[in-house]
Amino acid sequence: MSLFRTLLAATALAAAFATTAYADYPERTITMVVPFSAGGPTDTVARLVAESMSKDLGQQIVVENVGGAGGTLGAGRVASADADGYTVLLHHIGMATSATLYRKLAYDTLNAFDYVGLVTEVPMTIVARKDFEPADLKGLIDYVKANKDTVTVANAGIGAASHLCGMLFMSAIETPLVTVPYKGTGPAMTDLLGGQVDIMCDQTTNTTKQIQGGTIKAYAVTSPERLAIFPDLPTAAEAGLKDFQVGIWHGIYVPKGTPAEATDKLSAALKKALKDENVVSRFAELGTAPSPEADATPAALKAKLESEIARWKPVIEAAGQYAD
Ligand code: MLT
Repeated sequence: MSLFRTLLAATALAAAFATTAYADYPERTITMVVPFSAGGPTDTVARLVAESMSKDLGQQIVVENVGGAGGTLGAGRVASADADGYTVLLHHIGMATSATLYRKLAYDTLNAFDYVGLVTEVPMTIVARKDFEPADLKGLIDYVKANKDTVTVANAGIGAASHLCGMLFMSAIETPLVTVPYKGTGPAMTDLLGGQVDIMCDQTTNTTKQIQGGTIKAYAVTSPERLAIFPDLPTAAEAGLKDFQVGIWHGIYVPKGTPAEATDKLSAALKKALKDENVVSRFAELGTAPSPEADATPAALKAKLESEIARWKPVIEAAGQYAD
């Protein structure tokens, strides 16, 4: 048998084996790495989606929080995990900004992952401890400019959504402020509630309950339109920060080389989860909505990541703020 025929037979055999090997995928628990602390906004989105996807896949998806370095530690964990479909990553816009913010990342953002799909895009809110003096966004801007050496801004580390929004806010008002990093905005919220830090820009998936409960002050939302859950909360543009819009898109990734049979099943389960009544209603209560079905695909997430890396690179380079 010629060498060519032998190779052909071997390739066909390998493909047949891979297909059969993943015919029963998943056969055990899947780990979903969340690169921020438990109880925060990314964790909230992840646990809702994981629970629904587990039902469809017939195996549990267990969330593991790997916080630190603005989300790059958790992303690195998945980049170096076995490409067998049993480790996935739920991450957000930080995946794109970190590609420029970190010049010595442990992984190559565009070559270390395969894709499952987009999940949601969450608006952010500019909030403060409840006894903070300013009454509205204009008052807040005047106050922080006058007290720029003492006002503290919490975030979840360089590369986090709260860091990006904070950076955009500081450049919009042309005033650098003192930042206080955490492993997630879950623990940052605890300190905001306790008055240990003054302000934060954070996702509605983490701030809604506190704003509705009056335990923190809210100044603006970063979406183009007001949110149904906060009819009286102005957009940042309405309140005086023209063009200040940022939405935190989230996606699910797997290590590069994960068999397509696994990513296809994960993507199909994600699509179903984004139509799950419980997911849809919880997202709405938290000021967000599922991504459209057409975006819950590997191709859509890949395209989003590539375009967002290109979009934020010049902004970050102009700010000249690098993590390393
Ligand atoms: C979190 O889950 O803690 C947040 O997503 C952090 C952030 O990116 O601001």
